[in-house]
Amino acid sequence: MISKLKEIVGDNHVLTDSTLIAPYANDWTDHFQSSPMAVVRATNREQVAEILKVCNQNHVSVVPQGGNTGLVGGSVGGEFPHIILSTKTLRNELVFDESTNQVISDAGFTLGEIQKFAVEKGLEYNVDLGARDAATIGGTVATNAGGMRVVAHGMTSAHVVGIEMVLPTGEFLNNLSGLPKNNTGFDVTRMAVGSEGTLGVITRVRLQLHLPRNTEWTVLLPVSSIDDAIRFCRPLASQILAAELMETDSINEIAASNGSPQLSGRTDWWLLIEGDGEQPQIPENALLALDVSDLARFWSYRESHTGYINRLPNSIKIDVCVPVDSLSEFIKGVKSIWSNYGAQKDLWIFGHVMDGNLHLAISNCIDPSPVIDAVMELVVNLNGAISAEHGIGRAKTKYLKDVKTPFEINTMRNVKKAFDPNGIMNPGVIFPLDN
Ligand code: FAD
Ligand code: MLT
Ligand code: ZN
Repeated sequence: MISKLKEIVGDNHVLTDSTLIAPYANDWTDHFQSSPMAVVRATNREQVAEILKVCNQNHVSVVPQGGNTGLVGGSVGGEFPHIILSTKTLRNELVFDESTNQVISDAGFTLGEIQKFAVEKGLEYNVDLGARDAATIGGTVATNAGGMRVVAHGMTSAHVVGIEMVLPTGEFLNNLSGLPKNNTGFDVTRMAVGSEGTLGVITRVRLQLHLPRNTEWTVLLPVSSIDDAIRFCRPLASQILAAELMETDSINEIAASNGSPQLSGRTDWWLLIEGDGEQPQIPENALLALDVSDLARFWSYRESHTGYINRLPNSIKIDVCVPVDSLSEFIKGVKSIWSNYGAQKDLWIFGHVMDGNLHLAISNCIDPSPVIDAVMELVVNLNGAISAEHGIGRAKTKYLKDVKTPFEINTMRNVKKAFDPNGIMNPGVIFPLDN
């Protein structure tokens, strides 16, 4: 089979040497590794179709991988024969449609490249996350990525106008026409959004760009509680472009590690807010960004969380969502779970507060599973989501049954079967392998 794959993409694009495979076979969190038969780098969509056909015929699983920045283990395989199909090399064309302000992008362009392309057209692509320079457009659609602009502009799904996806048979599904109206029954292609590589391989995406809403003020605001943060943001809802909550201790620990100034002030939390329109009244102890260096520093406090925490020993992340009005109760519950379990210091809480989406992380913890189980139970009791934006991947499959009814899970499985009858697409992702 390897020789067939080499015929399709060329020898240089089929990696079998363990050193060359390593960066693809280890996920960003370092929690998930696999041993693929090969990493196959496709450089055009016809190759993707041929690769899938060969794997389907040979019953070899395919793990699609973009930038490998996913945080739930979906971009590497498991204990079954598989190849990793890298789509980050699918980067031939960015086609702008002036009449609709839409762009058709090959799957391998990075999010940052699309943002830049939009700016060059006097527009904006309103999805943004810390991994912008590595995450691919295909990956952001496959995970329905969220990030920092959801509060104003919605998740990736809100920006996807059309998708091209290749099925395991090599057949193309394509709705890239960009028609503003198309009520012709189920939109099967859209199922690719958030499918985490379990249905097929996304090769092209048509995205909506928008006229810019420029940031006119950026503030770091000390807040005494989550409720305080929500109270400040609610009246400004139509102006807010980002609202990110962080703990003072975390900011200062991270700042100390990279030489940034620490934040003083007796407050447990800081809220980083960006908005347009008139700058709101802010308290005296708030920090207003006065220049680009302030802006960079404020955002670095926030964006350094992910990498810093990931480098700590035994760290694990929990990305969840609860209704915004239940956040306070959620935090109280989490703190009580944690204090029954371990030391306060190693629990981290930050994130997209006005989406009800907080990122918890636990570090220096040898066996975090009792904590994760208890937090998930709390989330379910508060009518929340066990994954807000990172997906289920391999990390959260065991909790799927807690948030979906048997009917929903059965329907999802039937959809998967319709797309992928042989079950070759990313087995063990979303659905547990064992049942
Ligand atoms: P990968 O990691 O390569 O893959 C992710 C999943 O998508 C896998 O299941 C894979 O099989 C599938 N996939 C990838 N490409 C394709 C394709 N072409 N066709 C079909 N399936 C495919 N996520 C957020 O939602 N919000 C954030 O704020 C955020 N911030 C982050 C910050 C940092 C520093 C890091 C490292 C990650 C962050 N993430 C965030 C997670 C991650 O960046 C996103 O999930 C991103 O969408 C993944 O894109 P990728 O190209 O790296 O996909
Ligand atoms: C973020 O918002 O920074 C990301 O989702 C990554 C994380 O959870 O650390
Ligand atoms: Zn996030």
